[in-house]
Amino acid sequence: MSKPVIISGIQPTGNLHIGNYLGAVKNWVELQNSGKYEMYIFIADLHSLTGTQTAEERGKQIKITAAELLAAGIDPKKTTFFVQSEVDGHTELNWVFNTVTHVAELERMTQFKDKSAHQEKNINAGLLTYPILQAADILLYKGEMVPIGQDQIQHLELTNDIGRWFNNRYGVFFSEVKPLLTKIPKVMSLLEPTKKMSKSLGQGHVVELADESEVIEAKLKKAVTATEGGADAPGVQNLLLLLKEFSDAKVHTKFTEDEKNGTIRYGDLKTALAEAISKAFTDFRKKRAEYLTDEKKLQKVLDQGAKSAKKVADQTMAEVRRLVGIK
Ligand code: TRP
Repeated sequence: MSKPVIISGIQPTGNLHIGNYLGAVKNWVELQNSGKYEMYIFIADLHSLTGTQTAEERGKQIKITAAELLAAGIDPKKTTFFVQSEVDGHTELNWVFNTVTHVAELERMTQFKDKSAHQEKNINAGLLTYPILQAADILLYKGEMVPIGQDQIQHLELTNDIGRWFNNRYGVFFSEVKPLLTKIPKVMSLLEPTKKMSKSLGQGHVVELADESEVIEAKLKKAVTATEGGADAPGVQNLLLLLKEFSDAKVHTKFTEDEKNGTIRYGDLKTALAEAISKAFTDFRKKRAEYLTDEKKLQKVLDQGAKSAKKVADQTMAEVRRLVGIK
């Protein structure tokens, strides 16, 4: 019996932060280690071309993201781990899918509307066609389950539409893909705790996995807690949630009780949390540095991943080519 295929990707647009970690990466590592799935994890560098990074930044960030995912527990022996642009099937299937996709469906995508609003000066066609490439990423490996966040559900529905449009025109080939929605904590910004933690808000809003203890401490010191509203304040809830994820149960229970009794000291909460986060990623920081000082080794891991991915991708593309009538 073959195992269900799981595939997911991440754009190399910034260092991993605790929001990405708790929202996606940690879950990938658990799925990988369960041994129940055939896993594909890739760095969506082609998707990142729709954004505003310079070439230099992008090149650097692809390596950092690769090193960070490996340091966070993605194991190339268990997961096919690669960089999207190293497997040419993605762009080829993307083109075929372009020709079966309705423009009006792309224009409906919330993320397209959001992103265009954020980069008014660079509303490139790639922003619009972005979800077609995403569909290609998934269907190229006959992905069955995709662990993603709520914000990507619409793209996954479109993936299924695209698969169906292709099947209707060329014969049934692609099967349906399902989202894998795990219960994941929603981590909020440190400085604006009503917004989701995101690097685009600014450095002070996020804790990166690579941050040294002093940096974590300094960022947490500035984190918004209760201004007026008292303990229900979203900033406090966010810090308690992080404490739950990263510290011992005892510590979390103590601060939660203090909060209920109105005796909580935010300074102490922040110190405890900074310590817990820093400790949780000690090993991560070490491994990350190792991968980044040995770029050859890193590239070798990625090349091997791309080679395995390409084997599967080439088979799919041979079939697709036959179905659409090209050589
Ligand atoms: N669009 C995803 C994001 O921004 C990244 C991505 C690209 C992806 N291709 C994918 C995720 C395929 C899952 C499957 O988070």
